[in-house]
Amino acid sequence: MNAPLKQHLIDPEICIRCNTCEETCPEDAITHDNNNYVVDATKCNLCMDCIQPCPTGSIDNWRIVRSPYSLDEQYSWGELPKQGELTGGDDGEAIDSEVLALLDQAHTGVGGKSVPPASAAKPAVNLYQRNHAAVATVTGNFRLTHQDSDVDVHHVILDFGEVAFSVLEGQSIGIVPPGVDEEGKPHRVRLYSIASPRHGERPNTNNLALTVKREPNGLCSNYISDLKKGDQVNVTGPFGATFLMPNDPSANIIMICTGTGSAPFRGFTEWRRRSMPSAPGRMLLFFGARRPQDLPYFGPLQNVPESLLGKRFAYSRIPSEEKVYVQDLIRQEGASLVALLCSTATHIYVCGLKGMEQGVDAALDDICRTANLRWRELRDAMRTEGRYHVETY
Ligand code: A2P
Repeated sequence: MNAPLKQHLIDPEICIRCNTCEETCPEDAITHDNNNYVVDATKCNLCMDCIQPCPTGSIDNWRIVRSPYSLDEQYSWGELPKQGELTGGDDGEAIDSEVLALLDQAHTGVGGKSVPPASAAKPAVNLYQRNHAAVATVTGNFRLTHQDSDVDVHHVILDFGEVAFSVLEGQSIGIVPPGVDEEGKPHRVRLYSIASPRHGERPNTNNLALTVKREPNGLCSNYISDLKKGDQVNVTGPFGATFLMPNDPSANIIMICTGTGSAPFRGFTEWRRRSMPSAPGRMLLFFGARRPQDLPYFGPLQNVPESLLGKRFAYSRIPSEEKVYVQDLIRQEGASLVALLCSTATHIYVCGLKGMEQGVDAALDDICRTANLRWRELRDAMRTEGRYHVETY
């Protein structure tokens, strides 16, 4: 009889078919048909490279099996089979201990598994899917960047009326662009971070805000940027169960972002400002943009008191000034950041351009080295404790 083995699977109920996992997998083990994204057990070496980029967490599923599920079986699924339906085995008790040991080892790859902060509220996930989307009405669409700016970023407010659509700061929603592609297939769903707090853009209203940058050839970003008041939009989600803010008022929250990566941090800041304005925990924002006029929420951010939110802006394209990136500011603030990093109440969130991820990591490594701290070890411990979160694109 075959020894039990750990098989990597994708949850078809949560997967939004965004293709990120297939693009990421170095072994070409992930593939898809019209129905599902699936993992080929003969190719997957459990390297975990696909885990972090998946926007929904649907990728993070594991079953212990005697014989791996075939691709055809996976293509046919509407939902994942439950663990315990072990294929080919009848020695239940022996398997149980092996199963537990194998499941314990499920997340040993590079980067490790991201978990939510210990004090985060429990999120609702995947309440609405493409074929059962929530319909929201646009109640506002405002340009956020200066009229002279080439960067066209919009603040779009979606109202859900009577539809129950509960979200937490840091979660994302899917927007279903109308129409079909050149092959006649519906356009794929695009994900956007929620930019408002859990109880609504306006307190106690059933609405939320998005921060969307118009991309020159972006089908969905142009659709959203052009939405008018009263338009109806099909929404899926919410998604995301780890990039959540701690509810603990004494938590220090260090937020590092570029451009529209600021969206979740607006939600974090607003929730703290409205629900616990005297929280003892520090909030500190490092925000990179080309110039002040290209920085979303530049005006409103000036009105947020420093006592609630420390703001550090990095500008890369001010004429006759040197390019500054967020990682340069992290180095400048080294001493005070190291003091925060020494506290187990400190959480770090990075959101925005993928290129920033490595630069920020190197800057944190540098400031820790100066203080005789080992950043890699600290980062891994913080990640395991739900205190280190990265969402880049
Ligand atoms: P740059 O002027 O070099 O492109 P965008 O407006 O394109 O969304 O970018 C937001 C900001 O992020 C810009 O200031 C951009 O600088 C900056 N940026 C680009 N690459 C990186 C990187 N690798 N690390 C940090 N910031 C970056």
